[in-house]
Amino acid sequence: MARMRVFVWDVPVRLFHWLLAASFTGAFLTAESERYRDVHVALGYTVLGLVAFRLLWAFVGTRYARLSSFAFGPRAVVDYLESIVTFRPQHYVGHNPAGSWVIYALVVLALVTGAAGYATYNDIGGHWVEDFHEGAANVMLTLVFVHIAGVVVSSLVHRENLVKAMVTGYKWVTRSGHASGPAD
Ligand code: HEM
Ligand code: HEM
Repeated sequence: MARMRVFVWDVPVRLFHWLLAASFTGAFLTAESERYRDVHVALGYTVLGLVAFRLLWAFVGTRYARLSSFAFGPRAVVDYLESIVTFRPQHYVGHNPAGSWVIYALVVLALVTGAAGYATYNDIGGHWVEDFHEGAANVMLTLVFVHIAGVVVSSLVHRENLVKAMVTGYKWVTRSGHASGPAD
């Protein structure tokens, strides 16, 4: 089947993604040490700034960066997952429905973790805020693993290198494939 190269992820999306992955990882690695507290706080603010930018870009960015191209309801998520387990995978050029939901959760958790970190740092709220901050960061870490597992599984199922696409910005799609719905 004819395949064509499609530009999917614009530069801001790719920069956002890899900077987010790096700053989240860095914030996690520096979390426990008093010595690196300033670094931790700076990386935490970086996470917050990146997410704020991405929320804006979700409305003014290029086609696949926009939320409207990956705003899926629960039915679409169930249908997509069903298509995977029955070996009749639905193809999406942009984010697939299941991946999109993990992305929403990651974005919300980044905001919640960052806000709780800010409160902890500025002694707002009680001791529970500190525990909440740590708990939210751990839930987010778990979801990052789910996200990476999802990327690996869908790369295998769709026989496309999604990680490479998040680096170069391009994906290969079949000619019958279309943008925001199941392709074939
Ligand atoms: C470590 C923390 C990470 C976080 C917080 C994170 C978060 C995200 C978010 C928010 C998106 C949506 C991108 C957008 O539309 O702007 C995304 C997409 C993506 N991420 Fe990550 N990510 C992380 C690590 C990784 C790693 C290590 C990989 C590679 C194995 C990866 C591969 C991808 C890919 C391939 C996509 C695009 C998925 C698709 O084609 O729909 N991510 N990630
Ligand atoms: C959004 C990314 C962030 C992640 C993943 C993260 C993660 C964590 C984790 C896991 C801990 C617990 C460390 C431990 O005691 O075992 C922690 C502690 C802490 N974080 Fe964050 N954090 C983030 C953002 C922030 C921000 C934005 C601030 C401040 C503005 C902040 C301030 C703190 C402080 C002050 C502590 C020490 C709490 C204590 O005294 O035990 N964090 N962070």
